[in-house]
Amino acid sequence: MVFNLAELKPAERQYYLQHVIAPRPICFASTIDKDGNVNLSPFSFFNLFSSNPPIVIFSPARRVRDNSTKHTLQNVVEVPEVAINIVTYDMVQQTSLASCEYPKGVDEFIKAGFTKEPATVIKPPLIKEAKAKLECKVIEVKSLGEGGGAGQLVICEVLNLHIDDSLITADGKLYQTKIELVARLGGDWYCRVSKESLFQVPKPNVELGIGVDALPESIKQSKILSGNHLGKLANVNELPVIQPSYDDDHLKNIIQYFSIDPADMEKELHTYAAKLLDENKIQEAWQVLLAT
Ligand SMILES: Cc1cc2nc3c(=O)[nH]c(=O)nc-3n(C[C@H](O)[C@H](O)[C@H](O)COP(=O)(O)O)c2cc1C
Repeated sequence: MVFNLAELKPAERQYYLQHVIAPRPICFASTIDKDGNVNLSPFSFFNLFSSNPPIVIFSPARRVRDNSTKHTLQNVVEVPEVAINIVTYDMVQQTSLASCEYPKGVDEFIKAGFTKEPATVIKPPLIKEAKAKLECKVIEVKSLGEGGGAGQLVICEVLNLHIDDSLITADGKLYQTKIELVARLGGDWYCRVSKESLFQVPKPNVELGIGVDALPESIKQSKILSGNHLGKLANVNELPVIQPSYDDDHLKNIIQYFSIDPADMEKELHTYAAKLLDENKIQEAWQVLLAT
């Protein structure tokens, strides 16, 4: 299906876009109004856009329902500072609770049961329980429209970044597997970054991968190898050649038992190469594929 966004109602646009532009990290924004009243609300229209200068943007949109603006937006116009708390799994239910539309002046720290921690260079408080938090100066508020659903970009420069000591390794790096970040998808769906759901993709070859277009036809047309397999194979910087010293009993068996029928042999070799690629044994997989 192709959805022409101009023909959809704002709520429908929001529905389809939020389900596919996902998962989105959650900015739990603490702001204050000119009288010092604190507000705390989550926003998943949020991301990092620059590290030099360090810029993050989130968007408290005009409500689709009645076109009203959010307290967070009103606050950053009055006091251009925001403490952005990054939401982790242990906070997600309280975060959702804080998104209730409490009347202006109601402090969602109290409603959601979080503890205030003074920030070092801005007035809005941080959430003590959060494991990563950003003290930000709002450098611009950019309205994307006046209608219901219109995003209001709050462009923030990050001044100080707080990270819980338990997440920092002895050599000052971050344990990605230990921050159980959560992210928002469509409707009521969230996802949790856990050890089981994480995987690594090595950075592409700095000497340039040969590209899928340069793979031999039999590999490109394989009914067994997937796009991910082709991506791994094509990340070598030159087409590998047969290594006579490559010694692999399983490969020898395949050649011995299937050589009468080339189609069967190719199927077996591709199946074995796929297994090796899944184990990140790229050079071994190439040796198997070169035997076809
Ligand atoms: C996880 C989560 C993410 C949300 N993301 C957004 C968002 O990006 N933009 C938005 O306008 N509202 C978003 N909302 C809804 C606001 O949090 C909600 O409207 C809140 O009441 C606004 O509070 P405020 O008026 O005190 O600023 C989100 C809610 C949740 C639970």
